[in-house]
Amino acid sequence: MFTRPHGKTMGFVICRSTGEEGEILSLAVAPGLRRNGLGALLLDATKAQAVKLDIGTLFLEVAEDNIAARRLYENSDFSTVGRRPHYYRRRYGPAVDALTLRCKLTSAATGDC
Ligand SMILES: CC(C)(COP(=O)(O)OP(=O)(O)OC[C@H]1O[C@@H](n2cnc3c(N)ncnc32)[C@H](O)[C@@H]1OP(=O)(O)O)[C@@H](O)C(=O)NCCC(=O)NCCS
Repeated sequence: MFTRPHGKTMGFVICRSTGEEGEILSLAVAPGLRRNGLGALLLDATKAQAVKLDIGTLFLEVAEDNIAARRLYENSDFSTVGRRPHYYRRRYGPAVDALTLRCKLTSAATGDC
């Protein structure tokens, strides 16, 4: 899913699904366009599309030190259900844990968790 109103990619989300479960593999907004609500928009659209596809639960992994993404997901009712220690290697500094987040989709109308 891309947002490209003027031919430039402003943001994207990549997902996959296996029956009743879906996974957000990657989600990003162009650096100069962040904090304008695009990330939340992409996430809402993903959840709505998941509901349409009868996907009951969405998962994703996020680095523990990725505060922006963690806030985005927490605001969208994702909660932490697991941890992979030292999952993300860093060029400088120690590896960072991955947090597994889950959102149960319960509303067919809106995609709300
Ligand atoms: C994470 C990311 C997608 C957020 O996109 P965005 O368009 O800036 O997000 P939004 O403007 O929709 O923000 C939604 C909420 O997320 C949180 N948030 C977003 N950026 C934040 C930041 N830098 N610091 C703290 N909270 C932040 C806020 O709660 C925000 O709500 P608010 O603006 O009302 O306070 C963007 O920062 C990004 O592309 N990061 C690099 C890629 C990445 O880390 N992807 C996630 C991998 S799991």
